[in-house]
Amino acid sequence: MRTSFYIKTFGCQMNERDSEIMAQLLIQHGYAAMAAEEADLIILNTCSIRAKAEQKFFSLLGSLRQEKRRRPGLRIVAAGCVAQQEGEHIFERMPHVDVVIGTQQFWRLPELLQRLERGESKREIACGLDKAFVIPPFQKLLHDAPPQPSEFRKFVTIMQGCDNYCAYCVVPSTRGREISRPVADILEEVQLLVSRGVKEITLLGQNVNSYGTTNPVAERPVSFAELLQRTAAIPGLRRLRFTTSNPQDLSTELMRCFRDLPNLCPHFHLPVQAGSNAVLKRMNRKYSRELYLDKVAELRSFRPDITLSTDVIVGFPGETEDDFEQTMSLLETVRFHGSFSFKYSDRPGTRSLHFPDKVDEQTKGARLERFQARQDEISLERNREFLGRSVEVMVEGRSESGLQGRTGSNHIVHFAGPDSLQPGDLLMVTINHAGQHSLQGSMAD
Ligand code: 5AD
Ligand code: SF4
Repeated sequence: MRTSFYIKTFGCQMNERDSEIMAQLLIQHGYAAMAAEEADLIILNTCSIRAKAEQKFFSLLGSLRQEKRRRPGLRIVAAGCVAQQEGEHIFERMPHVDVVIGTQQFWRLPELLQRLERGESKREIACGLDKAFVIPPFQKLLHDAPPQPSEFRKFVTIMQGCDNYCAYCVVPSTRGREISRPVADILEEVQLLVSRGVKEITLLGQNVNSYGTTNPVAERPVSFAELLQRTAAIPGLRRLRFTTSNPQDLSTELMRCFRDLPNLCPHFHLPVQAGSNAVLKRMNRKYSRELYLDKVAELRSFRPDITLSTDVIVGFPGETEDDFEQTMSLLETVRFHGSFSFKYSDRPGTRSLHFPDKVDEQTKGARLERFQARQDEISLERNREFLGRSVEVMVEGRSESGLQGRTGSNHIVHFAGPDSLQPGDLLMVTINHAGQHSLQGSMAD
């Protein structure tokens, strides 16, 4: 009987959260978490969003072949988005894998492992995606788990999947159709976490703005803004965040929450992807540059100090120099506090895979470099706006140089403080130095 496991997570917060659930399930079935070298079960929870993420997984999986030769009792599980996408093909490419388990099936992991242990099969695969899937009540699992004293912030899944079908994106095929989690389950989970000392919650979904509108499982559909209001009202919750949003679904009701809910952090991640309407159209994004800018202006009218971050893809098929200039000019107009930017990569099962006029690697590289260089300058200028200001910081941990914390606006702050300060504590820090990626300060009087 195998008793120890190690999980390596690739990709997004959604995957981190899924890994956490798998770990909890395994612990309840008698397994213990262990370092990779000692664990007799290794789970790779994979990401497929860009070609690079997938390559990382296959190269790690390749290196585990040796490890399995050395330790024949080792079991290897491929979970997550690449597992969902590749299914049986993973066994063909990597015969040393024992279990392939998809994004809606991972809660069945203990059952599949038991079948292997009992010798009922040599390999297991579970990759079904069902549009009528009901997200299991994970809060029940949490209930049975011992409280973790060090945990001060947690992710809570509110929906799974995506119905947007952006031309470049694997998510609709790797995570299925959009499914909202029942509101009662979400609130119960947040309440439980807060009662255990968690101070910050991030509500997670691929498209949180459309919470409750697709496949609503509540008796009465609840909008995302209402869900935010009800979550924010849970006593003891100090900070509330959410990710990710789509501009076209961003309602005034939701924007108003940034004015009205004091514990809703003033940071908004609003992926724009491109500044040119022609590119946005080919990407099947359902908004224009103008609509995006209007949403930003409206958001700022409710919360002038809100910080904005975004995602950008450069070199989408057919992107001309002029299209790219429009992405640069959008960056100048919005002056994002930060952004995640990527070179377009072809993904299996997406529409853009078959688009003509692919942009060459060199051009993509040059555009990415230009975008990132300008973003870095703007981030520094934006960070300098904090100089001399006192901001509320939540302690996250300690580094060699002192304490590290985060502002509600999502800026990392380094500062000196007493040993008595613990992760999750809140205090005021006066900012006296601004770098490109973080701020420095000292405890305010
Ligand atoms: N190529 C490059 N970047 C991509 N993203 C999603 N799909 C692709 C792709 N095929 C980026 C988008 C998305 C972020 C999570 O990853 O910017 O918002
Ligand atoms: Fe990667 Fe997207 Fe899957 Fe998250 S949902 S793991 S970002 S492919």
